[in-house]
Amino acid sequence: MSKPILIDTDAGVDDALALILAFRSPELSVKAITTVAGNVDVKKCTRNVYRLLDLLQVKHRPIIAEGARRPLRAPLLTASEVHGPDGLGGVSAKLPPVRNVKPENAVETILRLCRRYGKRLSIVTIGPLTNVALALKSDRRTVLRAGRIVSMGGAFRVPGNTGPVAEFNYFVDPDAAHAVLTSGVPVTVIPLDVTHQVVVMRSEMEYRARRRASDVARTILDITKDYMLYHRETQGFNGGYLHDPLAVGVAIDPGLVRTRRVHVDVEADGTYTRGMTVADFRNRTPRSLPAVEVALNVDRDRFLRLFHDRLWM
Ligand code: RIB
Ligand code: CA
Repeated sequence: MSKPILIDTDAGVDDALALILAFRSPELSVKAITTVAGNVDVKKCTRNVYRLLDLLQVKHRPIIAEGARRPLRAPLLTASEVHGPDGLGGVSAKLPPVRNVKPENAVETILRLCRRYGKRLSIVTIGPLTNVALALKSDRRTVLRAGRIVSMGGAFRVPGNTGPVAEFNYFVDPDAAHAVLTSGVPVTVIPLDVTHQVVVMRSEMEYRARRRASDVARTILDITKDYMLYHRETQGFNGGYLHDPLAVGVAIDPGLVRTRRVHVDVEADGTYTRGMTVADFRNRTPRSLPAVEVALNVDRDRFLRLFHDRLWM
């Protein structure tokens, strides 16, 4: 029986790959997609989700709901230099225009699915945690009915990617990350410690896309082109990190990662450390305080096989 999931996304390039993976995985049933401001503004995120569902010709369309335009307290920081001004590497203009964009409300959708699916529901967050934090503020007891949150974010034993110590999703809204990671909802954190181990090279994407030769395969190449050039220019390799696809991978198969259960908090006001995830690996935090599962090891080869098998279907 497939696992009901809600995906909360800031609809950038790796988010698009994560959504394709999710819709091509029979283990998952995507019941809703909620959008949040992050890589680009939330209106662009919502249109990107409609575009991707059209591209994939998804038959049983999930609920699409639009969420927070900005973080709980901090000003919005976007990443258009990485994901393009439209969030999809500049490709949205080449895709068919989206029609009838009438998203529902993200917080109401999160609460509705928590009520409907309870412990069966996994919430996969691949953007800032603003929507989930707002849902906790609105009706904490209902969010606590969810089975698990699988959250791409944080950096524990590796440098950050947004400043020296913070990862982008938790940097954009550190107050929301604090609220969710200390909420008591079971959370599995998928940090840069593991997502920086799952890299895909441009050459492999081109080889597999040529072999598949479909519209979706060609569009995947188009969407990822500038994202990968950004990494070539800034990090010396023509490829990309599969941050968000790994979060979906763990929703499919939790055994892909090895986790440690620790108390984690998020610095929200540090001059140099805003968004930093602070884990008590000494295990001296009182057990009465919530702890989360932090993924520190990943079965890289097994995940990449899963990713490519599904992406190029
Ligand atoms: O730090 C990586 C995360 O930030 C990914 O979710 C990427 O899409 C960006 O949102
Ligand atoms: Ca994202």
